[in-house]
Amino acid sequence: MRRKHGVPSTSSRKLDHLRICAEEDVESHYSYFNDIMLIHEALPEINKGKIELETAFLGKKLNAPFLISSMTGGHPETAAINTALAEAAEELQIAIGVGSQRAALEDTRQEESYRVVREKAPTTFIHANIGAPQLSTLEDDDIQRLIDMIDADALAIHLNFLQEAIQPDGDVNAEGCLHEIERICKLASKPVIVKETGAGISRRTAEKLKKAGVAAIDVAGTGGTSWSGVEVYRARGVKDKALEHLGELYWDWGVPTPVSIIECKTAGLPIIASGGLRSGLDAAKSIALGAALCGAALPYMKAAMKGSDAVIRCVKLMMDELRAAMFLTQCMDMKALGNADLVVTGKTKEILNSREFS
Ligand SMILES: Cc1cc2nc3c(=O)[nH]c(=O)nc-3n(C[C@H](O)[C@H](O)[C@H](O)COP(=O)(O)O)c2cc1C
Repeated sequence: MRRKHGVPSTSSRKLDHLRICAEEDVESHYSYFNDIMLIHEALPEINKGKIELETAFLGKKLNAPFLISSMTGGHPETAAINTALAEAAEELQIAIGVGSQRAALEDTRQEESYRVVREKAPTTFIHANIGAPQLSTLEDDDIQRLIDMIDADALAIHLNFLQEAIQPDGDVNAEGCLHEIERICKLASKPVIVKETGAGISRRTAEKLKKAGVAAIDVAGTGGTSWSGVEVYRARGVKDKALEHLGELYWDWGVPTPVSIIECKTAGLPIIASGGLRSGLDAAKSIALGAALCGAALPYMKAAMKGSDAVIRCVKLMMDELRAAMFLTQCMDMKALGNADLVVTGKTKEILNSREFS
């Protein structure tokens, strides 16, 4: 990998991000899932005890439609968090993504903090992760290295141009990026997922990604962790008023998660819903909107700081909440939930109407 000089190391920036996300309020100011209502079935006529949460994603079976979204790795101190997350993913047989592996490509000593994920989760679905801005610096061999490092089931390419636009010395040259994604799709030995990081993906982008050969899309829409918000705190730390202003202005920028699910669904690829999913009810709404898998980052990160038991409790609570929603909408399994009746209200309805989705 070719390196960029004169900027804070990727490894130290990863620690900064974790600290800010753990200590500060970095969430979007509007919860779009409150605009979605599943229609209550007063007479469900099913046994809640027999509801099945099992699903399959990109050919791998999972016990529940949950993904621990990409977060960390890349510094020795992040290994404990990845250990806790991976132990929980393995125990519950849900999917997990590692954080950007850029730090390991730059410095092989950082590989261990990612490898630990496959060590602790030997059987469940794991995806690798690299940023779209870095793709043009990757040699062909680097792609296989990312996959082999964690024996990944898929490779996720993340789009984070909102954050790049706001941080000092961000990678803001996106020319040729789609072409690079196409190159990686052809080269990679595993399916390629493209994910956002909290600003969502529109229909137009989803269609371009499908043409490029992408196997699935993680919308990571607006409504949860705001990377523009994270940059506000970093700017305050170095007393950079201009960047602080920019971060505040773009705090809630992007395509809201429920809107993004509907927009991306038109491309016909499997969709991961993420960005502000904070309960199993949000997950139920996401699946009813068309998602195949439900990801979250921030809640699992906070739990992981207490250890794997806390992550397991957090996911189990989500499972219970999801089961309750399924019972009350008379859905025995994920297929039925995908066809559940719902109503869209408020800001989300306004956006969808003006985007000509009925
Ligand atoms: C501490 C932290 C670190 C993250 N690092 C990455 C990363 O390295 N790569 C990536 O694709 N997404 C990263 N994300 C974004 C998440 O995967 C997710 O898309 C986003 O946070 C929205 O989900 P949430 O609202 O549940 O947090 C990170 C999120 C958090 C909270």
